[in-house]
Amino acid sequence: MADITVRKIRFDFDDPVELLEPDVDLASTLPLLGLSLTMPYLEPYLMRTMKTAQKVITDPQVAEDAKNFSQQEGHHFRNHAVFNEKIRDAFDEGTAAKLRRIEDAIEADYQRFTRGKSLRFNVAYAEGFEAMTCSGALAMATHGTLESASMLPGGELWAWHMAEEIEHRTVAFDVFEHLDGSYLYRITVGTWSQIHYLRYINRFARCMAEALGTRLTRPRTPMHREAARRYLRTLRPSYHPSEVEVPAIVGQLLARYDQRAASAAAS
Ligand SMILES: [Fe+2]
Ligand SMILES: [Fe+2]
Repeated sequence: MADITVRKIRFDFDDPVELLEPDVDLASTLPLLGLSLTMPYLEPYLMRTMKTAQKVITDPQVAEDAKNFSQQEGHHFRNHAVFNEKIRDAFDEGTAAKLRRIEDAIEADYQRFTRGKSLRFNVAYAEGFEAMTCSGALAMATHGTLESASMLPGGELWAWHMAEEIEHRTVAFDVFEHLDGSYLYRITVGTWSQIHYLRYINRFARCMAEALGTRLTRPRTPMHREAARRYLRTLRPSYHPSEVEVPAIVGQLLARYDQRAASAAAS
């Protein structure tokens, strides 16, 4: 059973999103903002998938993990939805409308997947997404990006969200293994899902780059190289997310957000 704490946390996003400051690395920042823009659609899709899965999961521990996973994702996307207003506000109306149209397109895809695709497909999509994001989150943790998340647009939202992504990294995998377990299917649909998802990140990032009068370039930092290395390991037949090495900072961040959630609940 995964050790998952559901923390009800709400962040204030008082600061405007400033993208034209000289210290902003647009190659890294725009995809991150694109990721935020997908969250109010992707995470509810994962939650719908887990809700359907729960009806057929026969292992009570796997079912409990799926429930906690969904509750964490629910708190994530609610914060991102508020932050996303700040992202759109950083652009003119025309660009904000273009971003909205991409949001409508991704939402239509995910609603279609929930209605028309098999549970097997949707769970494999969930695991493909989780394996990829967890690789990125672990690379961010290793390279100090989560520790210094207050420097990013959206601030601590990233430290909390990515630490919880690492915390619940085994759930989609375990649900997939419990219901299906085919390595070939995990890799085939998982890879398809990652391409599908990354295309949207690119569309969002390209749209924002154009509005800023620049071209989207590929981020090439040691953190991005580590994310790629970690991602490649998820493709091995022997991969299990419980066995990946987790940097100590993740536990420290989770403890910090335990306290924050507890004081929010007490106030
Ligand atoms: Fe999440
Ligand atoms: Fe997740």
